[in-house]
Amino acid sequence: MKYPRTFSPLQIGSLHLRNRIAMAPMTRRKAAEDGIPTHEITAYYRRRAANEVGLIISEGTAIDNTHAFDTKTVPRFVTNDQIAGWRHVVEAVHKEGGAFAPQLWHCGRLAENPIGPMEDTPPAKADGTPRPTVRPMEAADFDQVLAAYKHSAKKAKEIGCDALEIHGAHGYLLDSFLSETTNQRNDLYGGSVENRMRFPLQVVDVVREAVGPDFPIIYRFSQWKVDDYREIKFKTPSDLETWVRALVKHGVDILHVSTRNVLDPGFADHGEKPLAVWAQELSGLPTIGVGSIAVTLPMDQTRSGVEGAISDPSPALALLEDGSLEMLAVGRSLIANPDWVPQVREGHWKDLAPYSHELLEELV
Ligand SMILES: Cc1cc2nc3c(=O)[nH]c(=O)nc-3n(C[C@H](O)[C@H](O)[C@H](O)COP(=O)(O)O)c2cc1C
Repeated sequence: MKYPRTFSPLQIGSLHLRNRIAMAPMTRRKAAEDGIPTHEITAYYRRRAANEVGLIISEGTAIDNTHAFDTKTVPRFVTNDQIAGWRHVVEAVHKEGGAFAPQLWHCGRLAENPIGPMEDTPPAKADGTPRPTVRPMEAADFDQVLAAYKHSAKKAKEIGCDALEIHGAHGYLLDSFLSETTNQRNDLYGGSVENRMRFPLQVVDVVREAVGPDFPIIYRFSQWKVDDYREIKFKTPSDLETWVRALVKHGVDILHVSTRNVLDPGFADHGEKPLAVWAQELSGLPTIGVGSIAVTLPMDQTRSGVEGAISDPSPALALLEDGSLEMLAVGRSLIANPDWVPQVREGHWKDLAPYSHELLEELV
């Protein structure tokens, strides 16, 4: 076999995976308006599990806060009915031999009714719609949001999820605390790096408290954010080291480093090493890399109507084969190709379908 390590089983703590390929979290906005995952959503995840995806990471699913989601059709992870919907998804994925991790999401300053570190007005959406001004979080907001993370984390464990992912990327709530451009608070939650890390790490702490010592926590972070693809949050390897070591100290089990192209050099003047590889080296934690695997369309042109081509996944898979990374997540190519794993494992990547934005219209 061309990729023996990629397609062999992996054990990370209590998490057993049949291979090293994860489905990247991808918002689909197709839940019922009360945030309940539908049968179509269950079938969509089951289809990927039936086609041998090792770990299914759900689309961002909102915690219990009116500011946590940006559309009513974003699924939520709060009420008994919503949790029952997710239980169906977990059972379906397990039945097909896959593992499942919900991605817990708070939209923060990019919500319809936004809260965040400070008062600011994020740039208009890609379609020109202006975004509302962000209300700075107060003490009661911090308490409520932490309690909401704790609740959802507890439920994730209760319904048999294999892990959970904290969405700390892309300019949403937790990322906006980490970033010095969107966090200029002058209290304990802003200013120094230690202060900017404080709230995301408090979230890790309450999640750990909720799930106990053995349940795997994945933390997803990024350099870029939805409203600024060029932001550089970690300017040097040392900045990254401070952050990932803090995540280690607070008990995160797996890092998920969201980059637009997994192969891009992590830093402008430190050689070719990708950011996720830096993160794995500096943290010693198993790390998931992601971005432009088997697709050529750059992330910021995803909505442009341009149809991308497919590309050879081998250079990315080489990072798994040589141990530079423990896992890779595949996003758009797995929307276009539910059977991505067998196609690539059997050497048929040239038969993969290209991704186009229209594919988001339906859950297939
Ligand atoms: C339609 C769509 C929805 C996405 N939603 C999320 C999300 O809910 N949470 C998240 O962390 N990333 C989200 N992303 C980013 C993906 O997880 C992934 O990092 C990105 O698509 C790059 O991987 P790819 O090139 O394999 O698609 C989304 C991407 C797409 C295309």
